[in-house]
Amino acid sequence: NRLHFATRSLRQMLKCATVLMLGAQPALSQRSEGNLSDFWVFQMPRSDGSFDKSYFELEQKGERISGSALHTGRFGRGDTPLAEGSFRDGILRFTVSLPGRVTPHEPVPKPTVLSYEGRQFGDGFAMSRTGSSRSGSGEFIRVKAEIARPPRTARPPLRNVPDNGLARTPPMGWNSWNKFKRAIDDKTVREIADAMVESGMRDAGYVYINIDDTWAGERDADGKITGNRKFPDMKALADYVHSKGLKFGLYSAPGPVTCAGYEGSYGHEEQDARTYAEWGVDFLKYDWCRASGVYDDDEIRLAFQIMGEALQKTGRPIVYSLSFAVYDVWEWGPKVGANLWRTTGDIQDSWESVERIGFGPSVAGGPELPGQPKPPGQAQYDVRHATSIGHWNDPDMLEVGNGNLTTDEYRTHFTLWCMLRAPLLAGNDLRHMTEETRSILLNREVIAIDQDPAGLPMQRVSRDGDTEVYLRPLHDGDIAVALFNRGDTPAEVGVTWESLGIEGQPRAVRDLWKHEPVEVADRGYTATVPTHGVVLLRLKTK
Ligand code: GAL
Repeated sequence: NRLHFATRSLRQMLKCATVLMLGAQPALSQRSEGNLSDFWVFQMPRSDGSFDKSYFELEQKGERISGSALHTGRFGRGDTPLAEGSFRDGILRFTVSLPGRVTPHEPVPKPTVLSYEGRQFGDGFAMSRTGSSRSGSGEFIRVKAEIARPPRTARPPLRNVPDNGLARTPPMGWNSWNKFKRAIDDKTVREIADAMVESGMRDAGYVYINIDDTWAGERDADGKITGNRKFPDMKALADYVHSKGLKFGLYSAPGPVTCAGYEGSYGHEEQDARTYAEWGVDFLKYDWCRASGVYDDDEIRLAFQIMGEALQKTGRPIVYSLSFAVYDVWEWGPKVGANLWRTTGDIQDSWESVERIGFGPSVAGGPELPGQPKPPGQAQYDVRHATSIGHWNDPDMLEVGNGNLTTDEYRTHFTLWCMLRAPLLAGNDLRHMTEETRSILLNREVIAIDQDPAGLPMQRVSRDGDTEVYLRPLHDGDIAVALFNRGDTPAEVGVTWESLGIEGQPRAVRDLWKHEPVEVADRGYTATVPTHGVVLLRLKTK
């Protein structure tokens, strides 16, 4: 006698209530004791037609309700027992205190207390949730056990996924998250694709148009993923992007839900990879985030391998981007078939964030072992050797043009990412760019440093108080030299040719932000570098 109302909408429930008031249905309080003992989902409709879902297993004894909030949805690892549950006069009430979790995004765990209260309508409840940012209302309805608690998926053995041969230089393009977060839709993506071409960015190398989290809708009867109302026809959108000479990217997660609580790929990996290939996807960002409810700590690599293999099985070339700044991802990233992997938590459009990520420490510093102090974080510089052709550290997407940094600070951000051989995924609104923003994102001389085919790591030349100097040997024997000033006042920053390993003098020196040759002295060069700014030089040595 378990009824499954998985698709019943609130409107239907209201209809039910009307019927109820007219006395056409038996009074619900006459239900047999224990009837609420079942699996349930609380689903809050989003404006895009998808649902924010949380799963529960309830146990009813008289008026007392116990049970658990299940890990499947937004609850992280393990089930959480309910507190203070009751069912009286058609009203269901319970509280859940979710323990905080330490994640790269949330270093200090905070518990979240959520209170649920619902009035019975038919076999379900019209429910509201209060507490933290997750307040709202929706329906509370019965759900099949295998949806509430998805069966454990097959765990293939760990094995090395072959290199997919893609991304021989760090991928360049655009991603929706930094600027638009959830407010991204088909129309905006098309306009961004247009702007990518019109601005000259495509011709400067930016080719991927990547839609981040919140595009997914529900799965259809065959389990096939669909776009939500914001993305009514993914294939048509991909076709449009391709028609502009661009490539198309999407986002998913190895867990049952993504970071923002949308449908993830757990148990549907091969099916999703086939769907992406059918739509014409060229890039997948795969975000660990909430997968710790279904994978153990020692299965992280495996979870990413499963999608890495699924993508390759489709036969379509798809760049594979891992989004999880776990300690040693750079060791095994290439082995799961990935082309890039995050080496930090989320970037913000603030100097503090850009400086911390760029200069460090911002990389998880090592596995946390019981009874031992947390290992200190590292800098991007410390893990630079992990990058190789086709396999790139990803210090996160660009914030250039989002408005909270000065032009000098954005130049520093862009220069650092190029010196680090980072993917260049613009994160701003390409439809509305200032001249300064264009001059940064479209600086081909600086992009050429990022995309240098030799892909050699940068080296530190000096670090003195607030100033830091780095060099990068380039494929043609040239040397890129970046003079950074992290201080709050302009500073004189210099190098000697000797410190760069140059015998005598370079043949020519060019300032890549000023786009002009530089007059240099016999033994070296000193520049006045603005606050939080950079001078980037390209030296000809032959
Ligand atoms: C985070 C990820 C962000 C963005 C976000 C979407 O985990 O680091 O870059 O993808 O999820 O919810």
